[in-house]
Amino acid sequence: MSKKAPVLELKKVIKSFKQGTQKLEVLRGVDLDIQAGEVVALLGPSGSGKSTMLQIAGLLDQPTKGEIYLNGQKCSKLNDALRTSLRRDYLGFVYQYHNLLSDFDALENVMLPQLIQGKKRKVAEERAKWLLSRLGLEKRLKHRPATMSGGEQQRVAIARALANAPKLLLADEPTGNLDPKTSDIVFAELVNIVKETGLSALIATHNFDLAEKMDRKVTLLDGKIIDMRASAFIPRDSENFY
Ligand SMILES: Nc1ncnc2c1ncn2[C@@H]1O[C@H](COP(=O)(O)OP(=O)(O)OP(=O)(O)O)[C@@H](O)[C@H]1O
Ligand SMILES: [Mg+2]
Repeated sequence: MSKKAPVLELKKVIKSFKQGTQKLEVLRGVDLDIQAGEVVALLGPSGSGKSTMLQIAGLLDQPTKGEIYLNGQKCSKLNDALRTSLRRDYLGFVYQYHNLLSDFDALENVMLPQLIQGKKRKVAEERAKWLLSRLGLEKRLKHRPATMSGGEQQRVAIARALANAPKLLLADEPTGNLDPKTSDIVFAELVNIVKETGLSALIATHNFDLAEKMDRKVTLLDGKIIDMRASAFIPRDSENFY
């Protein structure tokens, strides 16, 4: 595989859903590439298709038309085993609604993906402790999800997504449940870890200030991407828009 292949490439991605007799076209030809080390904000009004796009980029859903490339590999050609191993080793996912395992504590939730990948228990535990501490949860290691606040659970979900040191982090409003101050701290730490480890990230957010801190902003509008690399099309103060 070429070294220069983007970490993620979406080509003419179309996604439509059938609702009764109606066809709802959510993504109408999305083109996007993310290079190694880039942290990209994904903006767009509610219902514009951010979560749908992240699910498709994360191989959790199939596009109706178009193609996804991860590290230059055409994903429609992959068999189930390869898709699973890419999801496990190459991608990290923070969902809009975290889905931690309720019977396991914070430490175990972050250790598990590593154990499944074949890491030794001690190594997995050390990394899980390190990640959780970086996210301010060193005193919550033994807490199960039900005994943590929404924001704490969200931070465990972030640590879990980073557990296997993925090449690409896909995050859907990762700090959406946090109060503004905690959100800033957690987000800064998330970006620090991403930058330190040289991974790339595509992060959906409604928070324009957080988006400003990323390398690049892309906005979903009318089912297509507007790249904000060169100029800002959307006024910063358009509260209703975001
Ligand atoms: N499985 C589905 N069947 C039918 N319609 C769907 C399905 N999933 C998503 N949609 C529709 O696709 C549109 C985009 O949804 P999506 O969740 O991707 O938006 P979003 O940009 O993530 O919004 P938000 O900012 O509110 O999270 C919505 O109008 C939604 O109703
Ligand atoms: Mg969403």
